[in-house]
Amino acid sequence: MTDNSKPRVFSGIQPTGKKTLGNYSGGFRQYVQTQATGDAFFCIVDLHSITVDYDPADLRESTLDLAALLFATGLDSEKSTVFAQSHVSAHAEAAWLLSAVTSYGQLGRMTQFKDKSEGREFISAGLFTYPVLMAGDILLYQTDLVPIGDDQRQHLELARDVAERFNFRFGETFRVPSGVFPEVGGRIMDLQEPTKKMSTTLSSEQGAVYITDTPDAIRKKFKSAVTDSERGVRYDPEAKAGVSNLLEIMSVATGRSIDDLQAEFGDAGYGTFKEAVGESVVELLAPIRERFEALRADERELQRLLAVGAEKARRVADPTLEQMYDRMGFAKATAGRLFGAARPRGL
Ligand code: TYM
Repeated sequence: MTDNSKPRVFSGIQPTGKKTLGNYSGGFRQYVQTQATGDAFFCIVDLHSITVDYDPADLRESTLDLAALLFATGLDSEKSTVFAQSHVSAHAEAAWLLSAVTSYGQLGRMTQFKDKSEGREFISAGLFTYPVLMAGDILLYQTDLVPIGDDQRQHLELARDVAERFNFRFGETFRVPSGVFPEVGGRIMDLQEPTKKMSTTLSSEQGAVYITDTPDAIRKKFKSAVTDSERGVRYDPEAKAGVSNLLEIMSVATGRSIDDLQAEFGDAGYGTFKEAVGESVVELLAPIRERFEALRADERELQRLLAVGAEKARRVADPTLEQMYDRMGFAKATAGRLFGAARPRGL
């Protein structure tokens, strides 16, 4: 299972709400691509999902939803290790140990923390320390490559800093990971508010396309997508405009280049263009939705696959955790056990 000739790949995704076309573009799509070339681990990060208000019953359901979706979008349980974070206790332990080498100031500069805490009455300590847990996720697997969308860039940078600080302070322990970002579609924007990223938690129902949306819902959302006034179908990513976002979405859905799409739709009206984008997304997502429904119906099989994944994950994560305890100077737990066994019976 652990093949040293291939780069180690690790990524995580939260089991919160319905996953979006943005998650597909920066997440799922890249997972499948990297699975082909790397020794890959994909983690359903349920421990991350308790950092904002949530319902325990939903968390259980969403964990299985996400497992089904990961397989429906093309992960193969024979090639990749797919597992739930809470099933591998090394993740929670690593987060605590790594908090010793994480800067409080750097955590305070995380834009995701600022965005997610804004306007909330209750802000959990977990929302603040979230990037430490994420650093542990990545570092426990001696990861080379982390496929993610643009919004996780800052968190990955922090993970690299944490790895370097630990290595410097306690001796060479971790590989320092690199991010893998999509060339096009690294930040899919909200269809109604194209200056904001498409998000499960922050977008409106009309602004976000969900991977499991019905074809009709998808068509409707694209029909009402916001476009720029009088600029035509032109790509200008700096302008953060609706049309550029739609071009990126169509490129992700069809695999065609932006140039190619501009050549075809440059003179078309917005109505025709939006309809074509919607159709391309229906074509992409309809088969995924069908596979998702079939896989989701068999909960026992999903649970079995997650158990197999957790077992494989533990075999890689546990030795790194042991090494961390050791390098940080903790007394070995086995010493106590040996002492107990050597004691004369009856005492
Ligand atoms: P999460 O669950 O929010 O998102 C999963 C993946 O989807 C990408 N993504 C997007 N890509 C393009 N456009 C968008 N609008 C968009 N929205 C989301 C994200 O960049 C991500 O790659 N903190 C992480 C989960 C995590 C993790 C990890 C990732 C925990 N531990 C270790 C990598 C490695 C998160 O909340 O992703």
